[in-house]
Amino acid sequence: MRLKALLTQRFTAAMRSAGIPEDCSPMVALSGKPKFGDYQANGSMGAAKRMKTSPRDLAAEILEHIDLEGIAEKLEIAGPGFINIHLSKPFLAENLNQAKPRELEPEDQQTVVIDYSSPNLAKEMHVGHLRSTIIGDSLARVLEYQGHIVKRQNHMGDWGTQFGMLIAELEMHLGEGEQAELALDDLELFYQQSKKHFDEDPDFANKAREYVVKLQSGDAHCRKLWHKFIKVSVAHSLDIYQRLNVGLLEAHIQPESAYNDALETVVDDLSNQGIAVDSDGAKVVFLPELADKNGNPSPMLVKKSGGGFLYATSDLAALRYRVNELHADRILYFIDARQSLHMKQVFITGRKAGYIPKRVRMEHHPFGTMMGEDGRPFKTRSGGTVKLADLLVEAVQRAERLVREKNNNLSEEQVKDIANKVGIGAVKYADLSITRTNDYIFDWDSMLSFEGNTAPYLQYAYTRISSIFRKAGKNPGTISAEIDIIKSQEKALALKLIQFEEVIDQVAIDCYPHTLCTYLYELASVFMAFYEFCPILKKDVPEATQNSRLKLSALSAATLAQGLDLLGIEVMEQM
Ligand code: ARG
Repeated sequence: MRLKALLTQRFTAAMRSAGIPEDCSPMVALSGKPKFGDYQANGSMGAAKRMKTSPRDLAAEILEHIDLEGIAEKLEIAGPGFINIHLSKPFLAENLNQAKPRELEPEDQQTVVIDYSSPNLAKEMHVGHLRSTIIGDSLARVLEYQGHIVKRQNHMGDWGTQFGMLIAELEMHLGEGEQAELALDDLELFYQQSKKHFDEDPDFANKAREYVVKLQSGDAHCRKLWHKFIKVSVAHSLDIYQRLNVGLLEAHIQPESAYNDALETVVDDLSNQGIAVDSDGAKVVFLPELADKNGNPSPMLVKKSGGGFLYATSDLAALRYRVNELHADRILYFIDARQSLHMKQVFITGRKAGYIPKRVRMEHHPFGTMMGEDGRPFKTRSGGTVKLADLLVEAVQRAERLVREKNNNLSEEQVKDIANKVGIGAVKYADLSITRTNDYIFDWDSMLSFEGNTAPYLQYAYTRISSIFRKAGKNPGTISAEIDIIKSQEKALALKLIQFEEVIDQVAIDCYPHTLCTYLYELASVFMAFYEFCPILKKDVPEATQNSRLKLSALSAATLAQGLDLLGIEVMEQM
């Protein structure tokens, strides 16, 4: 059982025996400082207020009834009535020896659909797609690690008016004898060219409009061109995912066009239920739940007067698919905060229409914007959008320079491998370690620093431990020592290690991966202190102590590697 849960359970029992009402909770929390113990139970104050008695007396009463035999070595009442809990060293040691992930009870296993990355295919992936891609991927890893069934859904935008323009442009290139792959080599440029034609050439614009309609009504020629375009654009995204070490594969792509045949049904159904109504020839859902301050309901268009369907219509169809075909218990959306209203509209309508049973949870987990050093949305020097592909190349190049500066005993192949893991890791970690909902400033120097809360620092801590084992001539996987906790740094390290699963539980619930980053940073720091004060390989260290410390080191390395893996970041044996 998780430590905090165990303490909460014991304190709750003691409070009941002390006659404290059911609804008073013990409020167990981590202590802010070691002198206040490892955990604190802060519930006496609240309970005393309810019972109109003194919190310190109540705390004493709770301690009369508490059973923490073999778990805590000291309990003390502090300040107005806090209970400081000092855990027993043998208890920590014993629990560490058996550290392993909890088995999920079958009834707790959920099918979790995760909608992430989901770029629009009309353009090349740019930095705006980074956050959804890596935050969503981290959550997929965390939930899978816990034993849930994860269904990744890449809701790519492959449909809509822009594609008329793009296929008209492609047709022109092919007509001049060019290969599709070549014409689409630079998707960004291709998009700009076609937009220019669209804006400047009325014949082209008319053709583009005609092609949208033809495409949507299944015209073979338009479909063929569209397929060619989509194929190249998808391949480009898949390449980015691979470079980013993100687990999105072709099989996870369920693009907007996959819902074409369901859109009419959705609109008919909403109309029949009276949820969508006619409005100037269009079909609109009006939502009083989201009314503005003048009481006007919030409108969500589901069918245009000209007959076309919308982003919201596909999202409603996707919801039905996710519930009926994918059997989701929980649906997570990692989308920019600017789409919050859209998500609310879709969720409320999905419930109203009966597409989403009560037991299914829908959660939009928004995030802020990635900013440049000037504090404005990240752009190229000339003000254009930064292609994700270029950004990743630069990350690896910068990391390579650093690796070459630091260590020249590495083979060329090792340098490349390390540069790749450090560069990509740094970009991902810089994003994941910031509270998701905040904007953050993209800064090469700080993300690639070997000091502070960065990927290179954690990767470096891991290599330090690897080098201890190389020196000792031992394999971290096969150390089977009894852990004996003597010094305070050993205790601090043991306590941190035990808390790993608790942190993972938290991330799985609130989908804030920065909590895991903070934890790993603290773990690495606590390890460094342990390493400084608790000699391992020195001559005069008794063998049992040496083995215990090696075991603590091995567990630290394994926990760092596991934690980083849940963030999609790789480690290496040396750097
Ligand atoms: N393609 C959209 C965009 O780039 C994001 C899609 C997010 N997922 C969804 N189900 N709406 O803005």
